[in-house]
Amino acid sequence: MPEAANETGVLIDGKAFAAGLRDRIRHQVARLHEAHGLTPGLAVVLVGEDPASQVYVRSKARQTREAGMTSFEHRLDAGATEEELLGLVRRLNEDSRVNGILVQLPLPEQIRGDAVIEAIDPAKDVDGLHPRNAGLLSNGGPAMVPCTPLGCLMLLKDRLGPLKGARALVLGRSNIVGKPMAQLLLAEHCTVSIAHSRTRDLAEECRRAEILIAAVGRPRLVQGDWVRPGAAVIDVGVNRIDAGNGKTRLVGDVDFEEAKKRAGAITPVPGGVGPMTIACLLLNTLSATCRQKGIPAAEFAPG
Ligand code: GUN
Repeated sequence: MPEAANETGVLIDGKAFAAGLRDRIRHQVARLHEAHGLTPGLAVVLVGEDPASQVYVRSKARQTREAGMTSFEHRLDAGATEEELLGLVRRLNEDSRVNGILVQLPLPEQIRGDAVIEAIDPAKDVDGLHPRNAGLLSNGGPAMVPCTPLGCLMLLKDRLGPLKGARALVLGRSNIVGKPMAQLLLAEHCTVSIAHSRTRDLAEECRRAEILIAAVGRPRLVQGDWVRPGAAVIDVGVNRIDAGNGKTRLVGDVDFEEAKKRAGAITPVPGGVGPMTIACLLLNTLSATCRQKGIPAAEFAPG
């Protein structure tokens, strides 16, 4: 519970946690290879040249290889048609070397993101965005869970232990973070609220939360005095702001310097949630591989 959060300091070091998780995944990937001759394969598709997406995709490919998995990279130019991308997704669905498929978002505007996501084989949907996986998550079935909320949940459980009964507020209602995050917390028996841009008196809603997840993409929206004393604060925001002198820097959705004076536990930006997202992508790729081959994923779970 949040009140017990302070023993190991206020900061939640997502970077260190993610590094440990990647090590354990690498070990399980090696075991899977020894026991079954299998090497998980992850295909990442990038359309266009968005600089931030290029950085993410490179990082995903490198960490996939470091985990002992096979990385398949596919790049289409910014003018690619929806039909071209759908054709590629269908080929990846059929390719037995590919166990996970991730189409980097956002997509150029001539391509309907929903149509692409729905074309991905749900069993290979390591992003957990296919409606089948979203439905399974809300019904408590064996879903592929979106990587960022899964990473947030792992950090919370590592710091707080069982979350049962905690009052949680998810700030943001995207399909990729806010909604699945709320489902995951509900499955952990939290009392969950979802707040968003139209919520009245956001500050008061935040002050009630023992667990506060900020995922709205608004730099330092959550002020220090919005944080309930002792609360666990997970900051999903990655916002590039002007730092003066012609430079930029990354800040989260939370005013970290002020919030850390009140929080019982808080993730920094960078070095909090970000590194967990790719680690969870590797985790999903490993478990998708096991499921596709009829191997209980628990036998190769990194713990
Ligand atoms: N763009 C930013 N984050 C993500 C993510 O988690 N998955 C995909 N597919 N695209 C993203």
